[in-house]
Amino acid sequence: MSSEVWPLPGAIAYGGDYNPEQWPRHVWDEDVTLMREAGVNLVSVGIFSWAKLEIEEGVYDFTWLDELLDLLHGHGIAVDLATPSVSPPAWFFAAYPQARAIDADGVVMGFGSRGMASHASPEYRSAIVQMADQLAERYASHPGVVMWHVHNEYGVPVGEDFSEASVAAWRNWLQHRYQSLENLNAAWGTAFWGQYYRQWDHVVAPARTPTVVNPAMKLDWARFTDDQLRECYRLERDAIRAHATQPITTNFMAHQSWNTDLWKWAQEVDIVSDDHYLWSPDPDAHVALALSADLTRSVAGGRPWILMEHSTSAVNWQGQNIAKRPGEMQRNALTHLGRGADAIMFFQWRASRSGAEKFHSAMLPHAGPSSRVFREVTELGHRLGRLGELQGGRTRAEVAVLYDWESLWAQDLEWRPSDDLAFRERMRTYYERLWRDGIAVDFAHPSADLSGYRLVVAPASYLLTAAAAENLTRYVADGGTLLVSCFAAAVDENDAVHPGGFGVPLQTALGVSVQEYLPMRTGETCQVDFNGHTLTTDVWTEDLTLAGAEVLGHYRGGPADCAPAITRHRHGSGTGWYVSTRLDLAGLTPVFQAAYADAGLTPAGHPEGLEVMRRYVRDEPDTPAVAPTERPRAEHASTEHAPTADADREATGTTEYVIAVNHRPDAATLKVPGTDLFTGELIDGELTLPGGSTAVVRTQEPITHPQPR
Ligand code: GAL
Repeated sequence: MSSEVWPLPGAIAYGGDYNPEQWPRHVWDEDVTLMREAGVNLVSVGIFSWAKLEIEEGVYDFTWLDELLDLLHGHGIAVDLATPSVSPPAWFFAAYPQARAIDADGVVMGFGSRGMASHASPEYRSAIVQMADQLAERYASHPGVVMWHVHNEYGVPVGEDFSEASVAAWRNWLQHRYQSLENLNAAWGTAFWGQYYRQWDHVVAPARTPTVVNPAMKLDWARFTDDQLRECYRLERDAIRAHATQPITTNFMAHQSWNTDLWKWAQEVDIVSDDHYLWSPDPDAHVALALSADLTRSVAGGRPWILMEHSTSAVNWQGQNIAKRPGEMQRNALTHLGRGADAIMFFQWRASRSGAEKFHSAMLPHAGPSSRVFREVTELGHRLGRLGELQGGRTRAEVAVLYDWESLWAQDLEWRPSDDLAFRERMRTYYERLWRDGIAVDFAHPSADLSGYRLVVAPASYLLTAAAAENLTRYVADGGTLLVSCFAAAVDENDAVHPGGFGVPLQTALGVSVQEYLPMRTGETCQVDFNGHTLTTDVWTEDLTLAGAEVLGHYRGGPADCAPAITRHRHGSGTGWYVSTRLDLAGLTPVFQAAYADAGLTPAGHPEGLEVMRRYVRDEPDTPAVAPTERPRAEHASTEHAPTADADREATGTTEYVIAVNHRPDAATLKVPGTDLFTGELIDGELTLPGGSTAVVRTQEPITHPQPR
């Protein structure tokens, strides 16, 4: 992100959703005073304010918002102004009851919550455009408005919609995609179970049916839903753009979203922003947080992004809402920052007294400014205030993890060989292996240019198109190392098995294909003998057909007893690995070690639980930031092609920042000479991080001229 697009050049943004319409006027004065005390410089305003702005159809009241924006601006707090399209007012649904969304069971969504409108409703679409137009016309030139926030978290709580308008849009969408019913029948395989269509108006939406719905139809329905939501976004964005020049965004939910293909969404926003909430039952939820942050940065093409929402402490919508313990909020925030976020924002500024979210934490909790949470919020704000020089900094990674929402949608459909093998679980476990090894990763779409990466990992590529498989095969032929997990390349873009069988499109790269999937009973385990290690595995095994690969691991016990389990294949100047079973974190350790060796990568070797991230800022502000293709290979790699960290720095003229987060209860040390930006102290060689603490270090003064070797 060049600083021109960043709404607060040279500063890390800090703040949260601000919903002052829930409070009497005098509270606003206290709010802005406390915001300043806490170092807040950006707030999102108006996300749920439609009912207060358009009091009846076509009758607007902007007086309170005028006053609020002036107040914030007067106190030096910038505004990310939202359109309220996620929460149409009561009068809207009374006037247009047909604009309510309908679920797969035919249940009409009632008023009294949020997000219940049909994305296909012409009345809804027209109303959101008018609202966006009114807001943008009025506030485009307000000096306090630095960016626009369209809607809130597309796809939740309502993504799929089975209303009449939506089904009509679905038929149009299908006609556009397939041109003829013949093409649709072929893509959906409608010869199966006698689903053949001879008339477009016989094509229905995949609502409740007696048994499993045609999976190709369901997959298209997911694509359609995603497209519809994006159409709504574009309508509002374009209405704003007609008046305003500030960057426009909408808040994603990276690894926690289902309905939205973020590779596509990221193309539509000026700045990517993301919301992330810890999943309480997960004791290592900070690993999922890191995954989500890396995924967000990756869909943003490496550019800095906005953490639009996270929580200061507990949320309120999980079974058990676990409060964050002292220091945890700061660790979470610093992990987002270390993985590319240039804004650290929360839901929400002041805790709501009423409504569904009164037990949700906030920057200013019910207990007020003398609370632990507010003290920590203020400390974090002041610390981020010292990190302005990091703004715009890029990250670098030599490993790409393949992530494709279409594969997630397809693998989540019913009637798979085993319910126990899941996209999200595989993604997390493979990512966690890399996280624990201290290896920086990007995520990539399987069709992306992967040539800048030493290692490409495919944890969950159930759906892989022939074109994407060719891309991966070329990557290996050209010298890359590819590590593919089980159940890969089973189906094409129509959820149809690839001609020739499972895994066939990757056979050239991996030297193996799959005769039969051999899942295990829940709780059953077997062993894999690999490179002198005995690995325990569960859930899934496969009967492989070798096509040139060497066998490095055999099953011992289980349905594939004695058969190949883990293979390695030389293709061109690269290597393709295949892991045909569901190894856990420990089981993946020696497999990754071997793949790292092929790729010329060395794990960082930090103490367990010490998370170390790096960002790089170009010395000359006008030079474009480092593009993925310029990315130098292995900073700590041992191959002769890898530049050393110093040579790299000289070549690119960058300043390196190390962001360290100690998740351990006890102290950890890190060799990182430089300046501690929180304390201003020089670090003479080794930094000691007390248990639970964080640090940001400028590793050396900027080098503005290339140095002689
Ligand atoms: C988000 C949502 C916020 C708030 C928050 C609570 O998903 O965007 O408005 O509800 O969850 O955790």
